[in-house]
Amino acid sequence: MSSISSVVGGVDLKVPVVIASGTWPYEEGMWQEDLTRHAGAICSKAITRRPWPGNPGARVWETPSGILNSIGLQNEGIDHFLDVRLNQLRKHGVPVLLNVSMENAEDLDYMMACIAGRADEVDGIELNVSCPNTDRGCMSWGVDPTLTAQATEQVRRRWDGPLWVKLTPQAPDIPAVARAAESAGASAVVAVNTWLGMAIDTKRGVPVFNRRVAGLSGPAVFPLALRVVWDVAGAVKIPVIGCGGVRSADDALAMIMAGASAVEVGAALFSDFGVLKEIHEGLEAAAQRWGVTSLADLRAKARNTSVSA
Ligand SMILES: Cc1cc2nc3c(=O)[nH]c(=O)nc-3n(C[C@H](O)[C@H](O)[C@H](O)COP(=O)(O)O)c2cc1C
Repeated sequence: MSSISSVVGGVDLKVPVVIASGTWPYEEGMWQEDLTRHAGAICSKAITRRPWPGNPGARVWETPSGILNSIGLQNEGIDHFLDVRLNQLRKHGVPVLLNVSMENAEDLDYMMACIAGRADEVDGIELNVSCPNTDRGCMSWGVDPTLTAQATEQVRRRWDGPLWVKLTPQAPDIPAVARAAESAGASAVVAVNTWLGMAIDTKRGVPVFNRRVAGLSGPAVFPLALRVVWDVAGAVKIPVIGCGGVRSADDALAMIMAGASAVEVGAALFSDFGVLKEIHEGLEAAAQRWGVTSLADLRAKARNTSVSA
């Protein structure tokens, strides 16, 4: 077992680098072993109760240091996912987490009943209470600790396996939401989903996105996400998975030193699939350089030597 392998929130991660939801195509051609052996797990694209076409209009906009997206949870629905996609994803020996998104409690219960019927084939649930690109559901749960706890408890009624709750940076009190998820039975929290932003098309004089707002990710958000990881890691005992702008081994190491047990990588994959290998190998080298046998020894290193809380 490598010094950087560990079980994080119930998921056995040979590499503490997870492919973030919505950023890796399902197509077979993507699953070349030299790429995927550097991924500890993959989170599926968001899955909803029914097939969903996603948002009309522009969906992606590049910014100088990040990407705005308004995909809007386009997906084929839970039945198709379980019938077709799950087997496709499982073939490659990489643990699969299902990113579950819902409009309301009934949807969530329906999906979890379906998933519970296939429990042996699912490595974990990533409860998405944080997508900012829908008019109903999703982020409206995640901004509120009480609603986040309700959703987490609801999943727990049908599922006793690994349950990661993906937080939104738009919550007024993110540590409070993380604590609510923990109390309600989450195995880990993912900090964080995208940040609300917008773009204006100055040629037409209108907002670029039909819903006006969109989710920002990529390097621009890294320092913001790092600060959230620090705050959340200080608020809960369950593992924190750092997510937002990670594009190098050094970024991943910073997340771990701030208190994360693993990282998710999304936007960086849009410019370089090799980033998984680079982060994996860079973390192995860092563990050697620091002379540690486990990344846990590096976790919270920065916090323990910090002069202020
Ligand atoms: C095109 C795109 C699609 C995304 N789709 C989802 C999604 O379906 N569910 C989800 O929880 N997050 C989704 N995300 C958010 C990412 O999983 C990740 O949380 C976010 O992009 C921050 O990480 P990054 O800066 O490494 O990209 C998406 C992000 C992008 C860029």
